[in-house]
Amino acid sequence: MSQASPVQNNRKADFPVDAQFTERWSPRAYTGEVIAESDIMSMLEAARWAPSSNNAQPWRFAIVMRNDPQWDSLFATLNPNNQAWASKAGALVAIASYQLATKAGSPDLVPNGMHAFDTGAAWAYMALQAHLNGFALHGIGGFNKEAGAKVLNLPADHTLQMLATVGKRGDAGTLPDALREREAPNARKPLTALVSRGSF
Ligand SMILES: Cc1cc2nc3c(=O)[nH]c(=O)nc-3n(C[C@H](O)[C@H](O)[C@H](O)COP(=O)(O)O)c2cc1C
Repeated sequence: MSQASPVQNNRKADFPVDAQFTERWSPRAYTGEVIAESDIMSMLEAARWAPSSNNAQPWRFAIVMRNDPQWDSLFATLNPNNQAWASKAGALVAIASYQLATKAGSPDLVPNGMHAFDTGAAWAYMALQAHLNGFALHGIGGFNKEAGAKVLNLPADHTLQMLATVGKRGDAGTLPDALREREAPNARKPLTALVSRGSF
């Protein structure tokens, strides 16, 4: 009998769910291939359709391909533990949120308290579309955000949230030892630990 894959072992849903949710995961091994901008645009098209408070769509994206002039300086902002695996990604997609929005009936810009929350939804859509398109995607919050903002010329009213590495999935054997052992889909807390009825 053939062995179940790690995805099946670690990602068993307790309730019915589309397979895309359990089968998407964040590998660290990339091939080092450059990918087409249109491949990233497909992921960002999915992100575009995320819901947001007042339909403000506060998500903003900056694509830096591994052969773009900004790659080295953006890569240099990553924490060393992330540099150890991210060097072969095809691109870094910086995900930022715009802090301001207009409210219905007024042209004035006011602080949008949901900008970070809504941008998280867009990132999740992006990650799912990357998976559906056969690409690997792994988010990085461990980087120097101040330095990253400078490299990317981030406007003052934007918040840099995350860098998403995207690319073609590579062989786990190319990773440093410690990371090679972790190159497998992880599990989740049981739903019972997260959900209650009537109150928290
Ligand atoms: C906002 C955010 C920041 C993250 N930062 C890092 C990071 O700095 N380094 C890293 O190796 N993984 C990072 N991850 C990946 C998570 O560890 C990973 O998504 C989580 O363990 C769940 O695994 P999965 O994506 O394979 O389902 C980050 C993920 C998110 C959403």
